Amino acid sequence: MEMAGRAASAARDLAVDYERTDQMSEDDQHQAAGGPGGMPPAGGEERSTTRRNLVIGGAAVAVGGAVAAGVAIGSGGGDDARTTPATGAGPTATGGRGSLTIDVNGEQRQVDATPETPLLYVLRDQLGLRGPKFGCGLSQCGACAVLSDGRQIRSCVTPVRAVKSAKITTLDGLAASYHGPGADATNPAKLHPLQQAWIDEQVPQCGYCQNGMIIQAADLLSTTPSPSDEQIVKAMDGHLCRCGTYNGIVRAIKRASKEMA
Ligand code: FES
Ligand code: FES
Repeated sequence: MEMAGRAASAARDLAVDYERTDQMSEDDQHQAAGGPGGMPPAGGEERSTTRRNLVIGGAAVAVGGAVAAGVAIGSGGGDDARTTPATGAGPTATGGRGSLTIDVNGEQRQVDATPETPLLYVLRDQLGLRGPKFGCGLSQCGACAVLSDGRQIRSCVTPVRAVKSAKITTLDGLAASYHGPGADATNPAKLHPLQQAWIDEQVPQCGYCQNGMIIQAADLLSTTPSPSDEQIVKAMDGHLCRCGTYNGIVRAIKRASKEMA
């Protein structure tokens, strides 16, 4: 009986979550058109503009909730999901709160945190970076992934003290960090080849997981420039997408790898 109650509750949360997904998608399209109430751009432009927002970090659709095991545990999602929660996997204060300097997206940034504060919290709440998302808070889904010296880490479980000497790159700064084939330093709007491939292959659905997918893909291509399908699947293992965009992700990584060759 208790299990049935929990299942019913989870189903209700999931329904609310999907409802919010629909709403956020609509809001995001309005935003792309110049704010709520604005006329959406015509035809394919509406779709591609929204897809672009999904992969550059700043205006991703936020639907909240965990993707792990298909259970919606963040039904208070929507725009609230852009702010990390005050409870749950919170910081353990083993050191005093104070000013710390970290290198994020090529800039020295000062943050006010305890050494144990999760990196994700300072990135989102203090530095306003919307690429990394709070999904599970347990290193299980990958939504919070960032690059630390070029390698993917889970920022939800990484204390800020652990990255004091590292160069952190978030999805928000991924394009500017790219200097390979096709890069154009004079064009700040130019996307990273992975972000462009994500748009070209129409990968994102709700978009919540896509930050982690692109960050992990960037890590993969930095060590394996022309990965096979098997190598891609193995590298992306551990990044969860409840919308099932996995096939598109494989296509997009292969497309980007050609662009970057
Ligand atoms: S939020 Fe899920 S792995 Fe960090
Ligand atoms: S969870 Fe929705 S696109 Fe991956």
